[in-house]
Amino acid sequence: MIMQLEQRFIEIQNLLTIYFPLISQWDEDVLKGKGLVHPWIDKVSTFSEDELLEFDAKRNHKLLDNPEWLELVDKIKKLTSFKCVEPPKEEVTTLGNVKKRHELNRLNSTLAPLSGSSTLDFGGGVGNLAHHLEKNYNMNVLVIDSNPELIDLGKKKLSKLNSSVTFKSIEITNKIPNELVYASKDLAIGLHTCGNFANNMLRTCVKNKIPTILNFGCCYSKVLDDDYHLSSLADKSIKFNRRALAISTLGFSQVPTELVRYRYQIIDYKYSFYHWNYRAHNILEFKPMGNSRRRLYGKTFSDFVSTTLNKYYPQLSKPKPDELDIFYRSQENIELLKYLKSYYAIARYIGELLEAYILCDRALYLEENGYQASILEVFDPTISPRNKLISAVRIDK
Ligand SMILES: C[S@@+](CC[C@H](N)C(=O)[O-])C[C@H]1O[C@@H](n2cnc3c(N)ncnc32)[C@H](O)[C@@H]1O
Repeated sequence: MIMQLEQRFIEIQNLLTIYFPLISQWDEDVLKGKGLVHPWIDKVSTFSEDELLEFDAKRNHKLLDNPEWLELVDKIKKLTSFKCVEPPKEEVTTLGNVKKRHELNRLNSTLAPLSGSSTLDFGGGVGNLAHHLEKNYNMNVLVIDSNPELIDLGKKKLSKLNSSVTFKSIEITNKIPNELVYASKDLAIGLHTCGNFANNMLRTCVKNKIPTILNFGCCYSKVLDDDYHLSSLADKSIKFNRRALAISTLGFSQVPTELVRYRYQIIDYKYSFYHWNYRAHNILEFKPMGNSRRRLYGKTFSDFVSTTLNKYYPQLSKPKPDELDIFYRSQENIELLKYLKSYYAIARYIGELLEAYILCDRALYLEENGYQASILEVFDPTISPRNKLISAVRIDK
């Protein structure tokens, strides 16, 4: 049975209030020795690497055999599962990469009844979705995007395809104009509207009474100014920090073991470096080191430190390789790394609740403003992790 939005929202809010520390830690505190003390972290820290991969990559949560944890994960599954949309029987050819083609095809049963709509594509970028809507659903589409370069690219690309899609460069903010662009539109669609943009799209649609709204959010860590309590049911005294919002933007399905093993290698080297830099130089700084530089993480730890020091701290003297290797293998460092990997493995279960909180809150906001709203699972989360659609139809004319 599908739970009512209100009841779901309140249950999620209650759980987040209890388990928030498990998604909101600051890594600075951990390096200073003030990590969270929690029996679940202690237990997961005792796992072998294979067990941790099973728990984290394969999502076998039962390896942490604690009644409260098992009950919590059951609740999370219930509270974050929504009605699934059937995949289409036949796939159509679309523009875009594998992920985009999957998304556009999976939207078929949602879009088919809206054929012929006069449509606004919020954050439509280069117009892949707009072209799909025009070609397959006979829609008349205006793309709105704040990035004029994407708009120029889109115009050039679609003009070669004889498209009638139009583009307008507008930044959607919370100062909502009653512009003509919104008048007499039937449908607003936002595919992966990041951070506050999603909320501002919804506000714009409410203010301009757009009859149907389809919205997929993304990048909740870009939600600024605590703009995540939109509905009257939200307890505004709860604050979600940037760490928690970033965790709510992770993928929550199974991940290939090899990928997670590589992530662990990154954690091992990066955090050992930060740890060493803090101990040796009292420097507690996190640098945006690219995760994609595989070669860097295939080196020895001392080579990794040497490359990192050359890049970010050329003024610091180079330590001896054996000193670094001894530090890397020290009990204190090993425990820190185990703690971090355990914390983030647990957090990847609980973060899904925060995503569901944000989406339910947005849907409730629409319900409070004259719409009937629902949340649907549309994409395969292993292909497109932000797979949940807020679908709303205006009932208050
Ligand atoms: C994550 S991309 C999604 C692009 C496209 N809809 C898709 O799914 O591939 C977000 C898009 O929204 C645009 N955007 C971000 N903030 C915006 C805002 N406040 N107003 C209008 N467009 C915005 C960006 O330029 C970008 O093209």
